[in-house]
Amino acid sequence: MSDTPPVIEIRNLHKAYGALEVIKGVDIAARKGDVVSLIGSSGSGKSTILRCANLLEDSQQGDILFKGEPVRWKGAGLNRHPADPRQVLRIRTNLSMVFQQFNLWAHLTILQNVMEAPVTVLGRDRHEAEGAARKYLHKVGIGDKCDVYPAQLSGGQQQRAAIARALCMEPEALLFDEPTSALDPELEQEVIRVIKDLATEGRTMMIVTHDMRMAADVSDHVVFLHQGLIEEQGPPDALFGRPKSERLQQFLSSTNPG
Ligand SMILES: Nc1ncnc2c1ncn2[C@@H]1O[C@H](COP(=O)(O)OP(=O)(O)OP(=O)(O)O)[C@@H](O)[C@H]1O
Ligand SMILES: [Mg+2]
Repeated sequence: MSDTPPVIEIRNLHKAYGALEVIKGVDIAARKGDVVSLIGSSGSGKSTILRCANLLEDSQQGDILFKGEPVRWKGAGLNRHPADPRQVLRIRTNLSMVFQQFNLWAHLTILQNVMEAPVTVLGRDRHEAEGAARKYLHKVGIGDKCDVYPAQLSGGQQQRAAIARALCMEPEALLFDEPTSALDPELEQEVIRVIKDLATEGRTMMIVTHDMRMAADVSDHVVFLHQGLIEEQGPPDALFGRPKSERLQQFLSSTNPG
């Protein structure tokens, strides 16, 4: 087990926006089947880490490894960029991202939204992709919404469609950035249920969330970030039950215990 490399591993990651250093040396790994949650106050760098992990953002120092394969870079510092666009595409399509704002195409039906990338990016056969898209829409509980447009769905249904779209890429891991933050509490629950099911199935996931109850329920490992550094990390019962750092204690007492 332990000699299989993690699906996604970040080592000593550093990231700046111009002169603003936002990630200051962070190590995070998710092995197959791990659910790793990133928590921390606004601006602590949670989204930036996810975006660097799937190469939506450049980083200046450190390594990013996908199943043991390091990203190859050219240049250094603020001029460091991935060297191989095919490697970037392969890694990015294997780390499907789900965003707070769903990002569905308004002019495509839900079915078309879900099958679009498998067909155009992965070159899958349309018929096969459609079958997979229907399967995943059914799985997230909106199999009856294939032919409607995003605007005709509730926020919770749109987010579940976005999750089906991510699953339809058949990625090695899913990256969630605040998947429930844009939703009303009752719609939030239907999305959390889907995420819990995915965790139970053994999906590898990294989840940025403000929802401490969800983090406690679904995670194997929780990382608390503070100003671009890991302040504390551990299994959820220890992190939430017996926080050691004063900053984490303060953060937890200021967030809604749910
Ligand atoms: N495109 C950008 N250009 C400049 N600075 C940025 C950019 N994106 C993020 N930052 C800065 O980087 C820091 C980390 O931002 P990030 O979005 O990763 O935080 P976060 O932990 O996800 O916060 P939130 O909980 O509010 O989503 C912040 O100081 C932010 O202002
Ligand atoms: Mg964020």
